[in-house]
Amino acid sequence: MSRLEGKVAWISGATSGIGEATARLFACEGAKVALVGRRLALSRRIADGVKAEGSEALPIRCDVSNEQQVRDSIRLTVERFGKLDILVNNAGMVHVKPLHQYTEREWDRVMAVNVKSMFFSVKHAMPHLRRAGQSWIVNVGSISSFVGQALTPVYTTTKHAIVGLTKSIALDYAADGIRCNCVCPGITDTPMLREHLNVLPDPEAALATRLRRVPMGIPLTPRDVAKSILYLSCEDSSGITGTTLTIDAGYLTAAEWETKGGTKFKKAGASRERAEEA
Ligand SMILES: NC(=O)c1ccc[n+]([C@@H]2O[C@H](COP(=O)([O-])OP(=O)(O)OC[C@H]3O[C@@H](n4cnc5c(N)ncnc54)[C@H](O)[C@@H]3O)[C@@H](O)[C@H]2O)c1
Repeated sequence: MSRLEGKVAWISGATSGIGEATARLFACEGAKVALVGRRLALSRRIADGVKAEGSEALPIRCDVSNEQQVRDSIRLTVERFGKLDILVNNAGMVHVKPLHQYTEREWDRVMAVNVKSMFFSVKHAMPHLRRAGQSWIVNVGSISSFVGQALTPVYTTTKHAIVGLTKSIALDYAADGIRCNCVCPGITDTPMLREHLNVLPDPEAALATRLRRVPMGIPLTPRDVAKSILYLSCEDSSGITGTTLTIDAGYLTAAEWETKGGTKFKKAGASRERAEEA
């Protein structure tokens, strides 16, 4: 039996990267998925792929910083699929510049998309998650939930906040059968990462330089992170709540460390990607 057979999942930021990989993996595991994001054309294309694989997907246009839209997206999910079991708060954004150059509006925007959105989704999903009897919330943090990274002061603030919010939710709703955990990815090859690299003169060289500080020597695939989200969204992780799971190819394990060359993970990279695509 598939891990998510008969389950319904609401996934934000499902139009690309980690959210898209999570939606596809959840569908493969038997879940019906609501693809929540701002770009309806993209979520429709992903929904077609999910349907072709034999599962069900509902594309929903939603800006997660808007409470009304989040509430409507949850209502539409329940109207279509009859219930809600899993909430994946994955949508996120980043601004790169020093704190003194932020406007109040920019500060508020990153806070709203990355953190306030989780308040909205949990608030409006709560009656349905309670009714499910047993349900799961997974929030997407970052290695920036634990360490600072240059020129991303607001992003870092939001990702630290998500760890606290996760613990609070886990505590307050455990009696309702809800487990809430946080995944914290490291360098993951998604449009968000590429957007940052592409403004640099040599994106590939910049990535290679960052990866020299990663023991496994590779960027994660969105699917690597999706697998951890799946783990925390089903009974494979029974007994776990209020915690963080770091998926970073070893990035945070060392304060001072730099590679001396290749790794077996690096050599296996191309064949691993081929295997995952198959
Ligand atoms: N890529 C990385 O290296 C990395 C590392 C750590 C954490 N993360 C986190 O992973 C999550 C997913 O990011 P990703 O790397 O897959 O990048 P991505 O850009 O592919 O995905 C982010 C998604 O969030 C959506 N989004 C942004 N603002 C939104 C809004 N207001 N309303 C609805 N949707 C919105 C985007 O449209 C996109 O689909 C984010 O929370 C990000 O902070 C990524």
